[in-house]
Amino acid sequence: MIKVLIVDDITETREHLTKLLAFEQAIDVVGVAASGEEAISSAMELRPDVIVLDINMPGMDGIEAAELITQRQPSAAIIMMSVHGEAEQLRRALQAGAREFLVKPFSSDEFSETIKRVYEREFARRQQFEANMPTSKATASVEEIEDHQVIAVFSPKGGAGRTTIATNLALALQKEADATVCLVDANLQFGDVGVLLNLNPKNRSIMDAVSDGEPEADVLDSVIIEHSTGIRVVLAPPSPEGADLISPAALRQVVDHLKTRFDYVVVDLPAGLNDHALTVMDAADQIVILAALEITAIKNLRLFLEVADQLEYDRSKLRIVINRSDAAQGIRLADVEASIRRSVDGTIVSDGRLAVMAVNRGVPFVVSTPEAPLSRDIARLAQTLAGTSAETTDEKTARRSLFTRR
Ligand SMILES: Nc1ncnc2c1ncn2[C@@H]1O[C@H](COP(=O)(O)OP(=O)(O)O)[C@@H](O)[C@H]1O
Ligand SMILES: [Mg+2]
Repeated sequence: MIKVLIVDDITETREHLTKLLAFEQAIDVVGVAASGEEAISSAMELRPDVIVLDINMPGMDGIEAAELITQRQPSAAIIMMSVHGEAEQLRRALQAGAREFLVKPFSSDEFSETIKRVYEREFARRQQFEANMPTSKATASVEEIEDHQVIAVFSPKGGAGRTTIATNLALALQKEADATVCLVDANLQFGDVGVLLNLNPKNRSIMDAVSDGEPEADVLDSVIIEHSTGIRVVLAPPSPEGADLISPAALRQVVDHLKTRFDYVVVDLPAGLNDHALTVMDAADQIVILAALEITAIKNLRLFLEVADQLEYDRSKLRIVINRSDAAQGIRLADVEASIRRSVDGTIVSDGRLAVMAVNRGVPFVVSTPEAPLSRDIARLAQTLAGTSAETTDEKTARRSLFTRR
């Protein structure tokens, strides 16, 4: 049983949230509190596993309460609730020690799933921490997939080129690294991968492998489509309402399963920091973060890097790639690197004609026009991610050390 404490200054909200969890077998609401102060004393007394905390409360607000609870009762995992999911609030909540963020209003499924996920993650973290000896759990199957990689392609906003780059990158990885590759369209509402690869919309999608929110192991393989180029593809649902059927946890299980089967699993993520994107990023070995040489894109990149720090993502897992890097109006790559205080891992030139032609023909440009600069940039990115780039480690270190790391 997961012991949960609910904290909100509004009586109806406390009652409503308690009701939402009433039928959850695995969750026990051990208490409710109406203020930040009360939250702290209840946390000490009841020792809950998870505390759901409202960010806006009169007197001591959720952020302040979270900071104090994190100090005094660190075994409790905090989920922060707010009415708007602004990056600034998210950042403050994460800094105060919150593990997750729920934006009101949310469904009972979203609520219980978030609690379970946070609990499981916290539980795993604690077990690892408490084990004073290195874990000897590595089984044969784990060893076999050790060098398999999940590569997630992310951007804070849409239109950054995620689908274009994820799709062409999957093909380039197959070629450059001579590897087996599966491309997953995690834009569950409006997935474009099928269009870029000219796959029939009647093809099976991720939706067919998930029922009652749980992926079914035996049917998972049957939704993997073989593309004419040899890469495998898991498509997004054919219409937006299908997305509701796939929980973040289910998406994660699909990705984890594919990792056992393929050298590379490339995931085209939805834009922004939602539960689905975060869940896949947790599981990813490398995250390609797309930005452009524009003030807003750089600002969002910086905010994301701060969040990634809060989420304790290893810096080496983050691969910053500037798309349309030659289309800048006054901002130089060096300015970006100075601003984010780290070096960029790749650049991709702009070629609108080729990109549009590839979409219209349903043939990705790395296949139709491999000699084009755009295709070559993607090939280079594939080499970097696969660790097969010509640049030696020494060169890399030398280049990196020019920039101060935080
Ligand atoms: N390097 C590039 N050069 C020219 N056009 C590009 C480039 N990358 C992406 N595009 C175009 O930008 C638009 C958005 O790209 P898309 O991959 O759909 O972004 P996202 O998946 O992040 O929303 C598309 O029309 C695509 O063809
Ligand atoms: Mg897209």
